Amino acid sequence: MNLPHVHLLLNHFPIIGTIIALGVFLFGLIGKSDDLKRAGLVIFTGIALLSIPTYMSGNGAAGVLGKLPGVSKNAIAAHNNAAVVSIFFMEFTGLFAWLGLWQYRRFTNARAWTVAAVVVLSVIAVYFMAVTGTTGGQIRHEEILTADEAKALNAATVPPFASGLSMFVTSTKWMWPVCETLHFIGLSLLMGVVLLVDLRMMGWMKRIPFSVLHRLMPWAILGFAMNVLTGMLFFIGSPGQYFASTVFQWKMIFVLVAGANAIYFTMFDEVWRLEPGADAPMMAKLAAGGAVVLWIAIMWCGNMLPFIGDSF
Ligand code: HEM
Repeated sequence: MNLPHVHLLLNHFPIIGTIIALGVFLFGLIGKSDDLKRAGLVIFTGIALLSIPTYMSGNGAAGVLGKLPGVSKNAIAAHNNAAVVSIFFMEFTGLFAWLGLWQYRRFTNARAWTVAAVVVLSVIAVYFMAVTGTTGGQIRHEEILTADEAKALNAATVPPFASGLSMFVTSTKWMWPVCETLHFIGLSLLMGVVLLVDLRMMGWMKRIPFSVLHRLMPWAILGFAMNVLTGMLFFIGSPGQYFASTVFQWKMIFVLVAGANAIYFTMFDEVWRLEPGADAPMMAKLAAGGAVVLWIAIMWCGNMLPFIGDSF
């Protein structure tokens, strides 16, 4: 299996998934059903995670397909432009969706401004995902274009939006160091809270009820969001050095599993009812132990990027 294959496997999930999540969430709002609203928020969060490897594998696919005869470079560039915009809106939708899930725990419902942010961001994400899907289809399926449209696409000057952003990241002197700094601050926030929450789950600091530690989770998610954003900028700046790196691919797989693991502690009731002195159920202990191992593996893979493979 190569990166074009991975991209083909993943690329319909962000488009269809965002539409399904928005539909479920809107039905929840109209029908005043908290269960549907929470289901919508969970799907948004999951799709935001899945959009990351979709976006990254797309760059790998472009590297392979761009060299094939008859594949329109303009079509790839137009698709890349739409994908950059849709991934940012999708990630911000996922961030607010997770915050909404947390607010259900903390205050018994999601705040109005969070709901408004999820609706507005996700509607924009759906629009750009649709453009991304359409332009993606045009790369290999000229049959969906009329002869005139195909000619116009090949002759068009596609605005260098994605390539311009990439140039900006690599050629602006302060950009990379600022992103590195924010990446490490994000990591510290994330690891600090993750360790507290997961160690409590595993049996340390038993006198603290879980709901108290859970209040710190937005700091962890802020750290995670900082790292996704700065990590995406690193990737956009220099995709070639990352997508071909095995240690980077493993890092991304671990990030996805760890992200899904974080949803577990916000979604399920069993851990929420942990009073002072109470022992967590075995499932929660396994999830917590798994998260600690995953985050250590993610940090290790990140540190090894310059040494295994050739990413700096
Ligand atoms: C979340 C982001 C993305 C989504 C949702 C997405 C979606 C799609 C879709 C729906 C297709 C058409 C698949 C088909 O023909 O059946 C496609 C193809 C393609 N995409 Fe993306 N894409 C994304 C990001 C990217 C990026 C960043 C690039 C890099 C330029 C890229 C490069 C390609 C290429 C080269 C193809 C043609 C693959 C082939 O037919 O073998 N994609 N994408």
